[in-house]
Amino acid sequence: MIKVSPSILSGNFAALGEQLEKIEQAGATMLHIDVMDGHFVPNISFGTPIMKCIRNSFKGCFDVHLMISHPLSYIDDFVKSGADLITFHLESESNAVETINKIKNAGIKPGISIKPGTPAHVVEPYISDIDLILVMTVEPGFGGQKFMDDMLPKIEYIRKLIDKSGRDIMLQVDGGINQDTAIKCCKAGADVLVAGSYIFNSDDYEKAVHSLLNIQL
Ligand code: DX5
Ligand code: ZN
Repeated sequence: MIKVSPSILSGNFAALGEQLEKIEQAGATMLHIDVMDGHFVPNISFGTPIMKCIRNSFKGCFDVHLMISHPLSYIDDFVKSGADLITFHLESESNAVETINKIKNAGIKPGISIKPGTPAHVVEPYISDIDLILVMTVEPGFGGQKFMDDMLPKIEYIRKLIDKSGRDIMLQVDGGINQDTAIKCCKAGADVLVAGSYIFNSDDYEKAVHSLLNIQL
């Protein structure tokens, strides 16, 4: 079943509480929280204070995407602030096994992510320890960018790895997702769609969320 994880990066931070209630009513079961440090990516977004403020406005899964150079040092903070799932980048400077273990030992789900230039096979050693793989379909750092079609073979490759493992691992895509690009990703094997500008810039959240949830393959 397809899940939608709206990215609050494109939300209106003065009215986030209200917006999130509407988004949850529309059927989103995950909320994508993009954390950027201005070092791992050339942009700064927000951190735990914002997360704490909105924790009561959305009951579903807080899906935290850490685009930061040293994720291991911040796991405790994000767990305390309400994360249900933390995804970090394999290109970051933290040791991946230690970071995964830290997330698991805190009682929440670990996810790993790769940037467009990173080959798909690097996720393989971690497959038995993670709950989500995020394939970036734009260069991380900014919302509203164009979907990169050449990421589709990577999604297909990772779908095969997941199926071979027999484990229940979510395959998430993030960047430039709209109704058209979502269909391509789901056909390639993705099952969690992150969408920022497509949802938050629409004047009908319900219609936008449903258009992704109801994708027919
Ligand atoms: C980009 C972020 C995305 C971003 C997606 O670095 O990881 O989650 O918010 O935005 P859209 O859906 O507008 O491409
Ligand atoms: Zn993201």
